[in-house]
Order: sequence, then C-alpha cells, then structure tokens
Amino acid sequence: MGSEPPGIKRGARLAIGAGRCQKRAGLHSTMTPERADPVHSAETSAARPRRFVAAGPLTGQIRVPGDKSISHRSIMLGALAVGRTRVTGLLEGEDVMSTAAAMRAMGATIERLPDGANGAEWVIDGVGVGGLLQPKTALDMGNSGTSTRLLMGLVASHPITATFIGDASLSKRPMGRVIEPLSQMGADFTAAPGGRLPLTLRGIAPAVPISYRLPVASAQVKSAVLLAGLNTPGITTVIEPVPTRDHSERMLKGFGAQLAVEVAADGTRTIHLTGEAELKPQTIVVPGDPSSAAFFVVAALIVPGSDLVVANVGLNPTRAALFGVLRAMGGQIDELDRRDVGGEPVADLRVRHSALTGIAVDPAVVPSMVDEFPVLFVAAALASGRTVTAGLEELRVKESDRIAVMRAALELAGASVTETEDGLIIDGSSGDPLPGTPQGAAVATHLDHRIAMSMAVAGLASRKGVEIDDTRPIATSFPAFEALLAQASAA
Ligand code: S3P
Repeated sequence: MGSEPPGIKRGARLAIGAGRCQKRAGLHSTMTPERADPVHSAETSAARPRRFVAAGPLTGQIRVPGDKSISHRSIMLGALAVGRTRVTGLLEGEDVMSTAAAMRAMGATIERLPDGANGAEWVIDGVGVGGLLQPKTALDMGNSGTSTRLLMGLVASHPITATFIGDASLSKRPMGRVIEPLSQMGADFTAAPGGRLPLTLRGIAPAVPISYRLPVASAQVKSAVLLAGLNTPGITTVIEPVPTRDHSERMLKGFGAQLAVEVAADGTRTIHLTGEAELKPQTIVVPGDPSSAAFFVVAALIVPGSDLVVANVGLNPTRAALFGVLRAMGGQIDELDRRDVGGEPVADLRVRHSALTGIAVDPAVVPSMVDEFPVLFVAAALASGRTVTAGLEELRVKESDRIAVMRAALELAGASVTETEDGLIIDGSSGDPLPGTPQGAAVATHLDHRIAMSMAVAGLASRKGVEIDDTRPIATSFPAFEALLAQASAA
C-alpha cells in the first residue's frame, strides 16, 4: 500500500452507530468539542517563514495538481453512491483531506491505493444517499470553507447531528449564507455569534424541498442546497442570477442524479434536482486546478526570460477567466493540446514573459476567477499603467480579507496600491522589479494559502525578495508548490 498524507488513517472508520441519539447538552457556542485527528499543519507545528527571491527565468514544464473543488465533490458524491468509486488525480491537500476525514467519520470507507501509471488511486465505498452515520466526534474542517459548507448541506437532510469546528481563519467566516436555506429545509443550528463555527447542525429526514434564489454569487451555497436536496423528497431548486462554478451540477449528473438546468435570456440559471436520488459509483479523473496554475502562469509572465509550460490546466469556463484577463493585459498564454479530462476542458498552457499593461477588470468576470485576484494583483503590480478592480466584496470573506491583506502585502513589498470598498487600484512598476519587503518585516498571510503563494510569486520579481510570515497554509491547496517552483526555476 502507498503512504497516505500525514494525519490520515487509511480506511479508518471514525464513526459507528446511527440515528438521532446524540445528547444535545453542551452543544452551544461555548462548547469545546472533542476533535478527531487534525490533518492541518498550520495548527500542529510552528510557523514556517520564508523569503522568496528572484531566481532566474521559469522554464521547462510543470504539472498542476488536481482541482480542489472537483476533488472535494468526488469524495462527497463517492461517499454517497452505492458501491465503489475510483478517483485519480485527486488533490491531496489538507482541505480535501478534511473532507475525506469527515466522510469517513460519517461511515464511508476511503482509501488511497499505491501510485500507478496515473498516480495514486483513491477508492471510496459509499454508504448511499440517506445512509450517513452519526459522527462520534466534531468534524474538524481545518481551513476549508468548501468542506464546511458543502458538508453542512449533506448533513442537513440526514437524521444526524454534527458539530463543525475549524481553524482561526475558518472560525471567522460567515456560515449564515448556508444556515439560511438549510433552515428553510428543516435543519436546526446552534452557531457561534454571527453564524460562525463552532456550529452544531441537527439534520432532518425527510427535509423539505425548497426553491432558493441565491442572494450572493456562491458555488458553495448553491452546492450546499443541491447536496441537501439529494436526500430530500421532491424537487429542490436553486436559482442563480450570476453563474458560478458548475462542478456540482456536472458531477451530480455524472453520478446519475436527475438534474436539469434552464438558462434564461438574462443568464439566470435555474437548477432543479430530483431528490431521494440513487447515485451510481463512478471512475473519476480529476483535471488540474486552474487556481493553482494561476501562480505559475503569473510567475512566468512577470519573470524576464521565462518560457514555461503549465500542463494539465482545467479550463472550465466558470473557472478560467483569469487567463483571458491576463491576455487582455498583453500576456502571452498559448493553449496546447486542448482535450477533455473527466468531462472538463483541459489544456497545457505555454506562458512567456510579457510586458503587461494595466486594465479595468470587468466585474462580470469576478465569479469565474474569484480565487485568482490575489495573484492578478501581483501581475498588476508589475504591469505598466493602472489596473482597476471592483465588485470584489466576496474577497473580504475568503480565508482572509483578501482585499485588505493584499493591499498591505503589496505595499510592504513596495507596490503602489489603493484600497476601495470593493477592490484594489494598482499602479504598476512597468516591469521593474518591486523593491521587496524591508529587513525584519514579513507579509502577514493570516492562514491564507493564496496570499502566501501570490506574495511568493511577487518575491520572484523583486530586488530584495519578499518575506512571508508563514508558508504552512500552502499545504491546504497546493502541497507541491515550493518544490515545483524550485523545479521550474532550476530547469
Ligand atoms: C468553491 C467556491 C468558491 C471558492 C472556493 C471554492 C467551491 O467559494 O472561493 O475556493 O468549490 O465551490 P464561494 O462559493 O464562497 O464563492
């Protein structure tokens, strides 16, 4: 058997027994719930600061790891199918491992087999829709908003009670957006003030099907309601005025759920899911993560002399807007070998160092590059002229307040940045390296992997380098980031 990522017990079954049997006493906002094994390095080790310095052009070829959103969903739906789902290309980052640990705690068997021709294979033996078991301990979501919100959806329509806990970053993030529709479906919540973790959810079966119009463009909220709809009789409907990533819809159909999408003339999407679904196990190949590719694409664009192939980049149109924005800024990004992987469009991207020019980014593209703004800000800081971004309110409730944190980080590195209510305005350096962070000062990453990686990329195009206070959060989504950076810089 191959080795597993740290903290994961192979095939561990952390839960036994089912039903509404958990005592309710002590499950309020003051609780100190018992934790299952933590898989989160930023909670269990000392901070790991590092200075990222200019190291020459990025060349050769690197391969992007599996898509985080798709990896979470393959584990969740695999765990709800009847029979064995096989997954290759799964992202083995801490966030996805949090999802795996939680699904094990609710009865699924999830194992990593030894590496084969296509890398490691994960096998998931599902419990069937309606079959989730009562977890014995709190579900530790670590840093992962996606795990938390999607799993809340799953638990909401099962007759079990689960307590969700997380790290300091996750415990600040709003869960009210999921509590609201799931309460309408009949689930009951006790949350920390402001609708935050720790949170205890008492699910209900049968839940009530609802028709829910998303008040905020969020794939996590959409997915939470659809996943709750799986074990709910009747038809659950989600109305999405602004389209967000559609991995849940694609994958639910792939697993055999009855799901229909209507698109109105104004772009509003109405998604109908027929409940009490029976999911059939699948063989899934997870395509590469465009959000991880983004760091290498921007690095190659801003480091002189670079000519890098970033292989295996998922180009689902609901995810890939960054590459269009970078091209509009003058970035040379060519698609090679466009193909289909696991029902998603994928290509290898050849990226060459380019003179970038600032632009006004159309707020309409925000949902399809919502995680890529931190690294776009870095590209803008090296461009000539002004880049204006707006409509980014959602960035304030990600793993950190990415507007304020990137403003502070880029300023510390010597860039010219103005913060507005809903975005940043950046006056670029016209290709000159940024000064870098002063001696004795470090970028504060606030447990946010994308801040750490974005500012690492800024360090590659700086005079003195960029000091990051803590690189541990990188492991939540991209454990191989530093190794791949070393590889691309040395090639
Ligand atoms: C995700 C949706 C997005 C994104 C997150 C992953 C998903 O969050 O920021 O990294 O997998 O559904 P929101 O739904 O809050 O925008």
